Parts: sequence; C-alpha cells; structure tokens
Amino acid sequence: MALLEIKKFGCPVLRQKATLICDITDEVQQLIEDMFATMYAAEGVGLAAQQVGFTERLLVLDVRPRDPLSEPLAFINPEILWTEGECIGEEGCLSLPGIVGDVRRPAQIGVRALDGNGREFEMDLDGIVAKALQHEIDHLNGVLIVEHFNAIKRNLVRGQLRKLQREGKRQALGLTYK
Ligand code: NI
Repeated sequence: MALLEIKKFGCPVLRQKATLICDITDEVQQLIEDMFATMYAAEGVGLAAQQVGFTERLLVLDVRPRDPLSEPLAFINPEILWTEGECIGEEGCLSLPGIVGDVRRPAQIGVRALDGNGREFEMDLDGIVAKALQHEIDHLNGVLIVEHFNAIKRNLVRGQLRKLQREGKRQALGLTYK
C-alpha cells in the first residue's frame, strides 16, 4: 500500500478525460487500494484517478463521515444512467485545498459501473453520496468544481487558484515531494 501524491489545480492530468478500463489487472486493484489509503489520509470522501496522476476511468468513494449508513465503494467505468431533481450544496475538492463553493447538481442519479472485482452493478443514489459521486465523475471528464461556480464566486477565488496553479505545474514537472 502506498500513499499517492494528490495533484493540485494546474496539474494538466486533472484536465484529461479518463479512458475506459478493459482489464481489471493486479495493477488496477493495487491502484484502488492506494487510492482508498490516499483518500483516507487526506480525510476526503472521494477520489478520482486523475487526482493521483492516472487517467483510468476509476474512482473511490467513502462518505461515511457524512452518512454513517453508506459503505466504501470503488467505481470502474461509471456511467450515469439517469438524473432527477436538483440541489445546491457546498463542495470542496482535495485538488483545490482551501476552496469551497456552491455547486448545483441533480439530486438523484442512477449509475452503472464495475466494482473492484469486475462485477457490474447498478445503484440509485441520492443525498451526499449522489453529490460526491457526481463530483468524482466530473473529475473523470476533466471537470473541476470551479467550472460550476458562478462568475462572482470565480472572481473571489481567482487569487487562490493562481497560487494552486503554480503548485500543480510544479507537480507536473516532478518538482515536489508530496
Ligand atoms: Ni474533487
């Protein structure tokens, strides 16, 4: 098990669209394990592969800190099947430390994915887990919460983003420790 470096805003991998996983190899299973460990160490509730420098269509989620009845889940090649309703809630992101803002999303979603063993499953979700999953699927499509912010909010965080961007670029050049 290894803790992976979490990529910050400005690191180009965060803007890449993830590619489908065809084969659930030992490496993929190792990556899932490392992503869970990295997410827990950072006290996050979700993590997408791009955030640790990979471009596989893979994310992990554990919203138990916010919803004790949920369980840790890995989603490989997740697809949103349907959406319904709308809700607005504050979101943050491990790739954008220090920045939180309101994001509007569908309130309920249906999703299909493969689990860590390659078994296909479908789930209907709402509440915090639906919100977190949509946030992570955005990452797989190269989308970050700042794109959901309104113009006023984007202006307010411009300085913070510029700082993070420098950090992300240094990461991409391999000039950071962790
Ligand atoms: Ni995020």
